[in-house]
Amino acid sequence: MTSSPILDLAGLTLEVNHLARGVRFYTQVLGLHLRRHDPAAGVAEFTVNPHQTLTLWQPITRQASDERLAPLRPRGASHLHYAWQIEPDDLDACKPLLDAHGLEWQEIDLGTPDAPDRTLYFFDPFGHGLELRGVNRADARRPHFPPQPVDRPEFALPVMGLREVALAFGDYAGMRERLPGAYGFALAKEQPDRNFAQFTLGPEAEPDGDGTPRRWLYAWDPQVGLADMLGGDHALVRFYADVEAVARRVKAEGLPCIQDAHGLAVRDPEGHVFEFVAPT
Ligand SMILES: [Fe+2]
Repeated sequence: MTSSPILDLAGLTLEVNHLARGVRFYTQVLGLHLRRHDPAAGVAEFTVNPHQTLTLWQPITRQASDERLAPLRPRGASHLHYAWQIEPDDLDACKPLLDAHGLEWQEIDLGTPDAPDRTLYFFDPFGHGLELRGVNRADARRPHFPPQPVDRPEFALPVMGLREVALAFGDYAGMRERLPGAYGFALAKEQPDRNFAQFTLGPEAEPDGDGTPRRWLYAWDPQVGLADMLGGDHALVRFYADVEAVARRVKAEGLPCIQDAHGLAVRDPEGHVFEFVAPT
């Protein structure tokens, strides 16, 4: 089997309709460090940990959120589901924190009675579906940049990193061919009861679940799922990768892309834009 050129999850951009409200939510509830806040550009960028970022874009008419990526017409994601990695022992302490912020949450056990895998789901003010997922940092399935505890304010959720991003694809069969073929994503599994594919963000496909600290790309049909979560539309997602290896595939496929000193950015036929950058 050919090794995947995709190495890890680097960042995610969400579309928001009120930038100041987004900055308030992500600094106060998640305790993220705000590293750029440009209301005139409609952009706020947060550091999640030394290797991952979260970005908010408020659309402004006739103005690109990012000049470099403008030829690919990227948008921040709409109603996207994504997950945060936390220490499993921190999960219960997150409930009163969510209560204190006035957020409704739902707990679901994705594991078995012998091996529970509890998660908390809640929404940000813009309809993005967030999840807190415990990960076992001692697990042998390690991502390129393993999660580490991050110092957060005591009123904030103790998140360590971005775990997964779920995207919607209207043409599921086309996605099923294109993500492995045109980009090299490692297909780990499909679910029997729904059009739902799991891609391991690492060199080899691995089993999901059971506390894995790996990062994941989930590709779903545009249908509401567990805890009312939806896959995102027109998402902008950044991955660590062997950029040249992805570029060869993308160019052979003929997908619209730009390649420069920052890396490679590609517009997927479903309107998602994927960035691929070298690990630093
Ligand atoms: Fe999830």
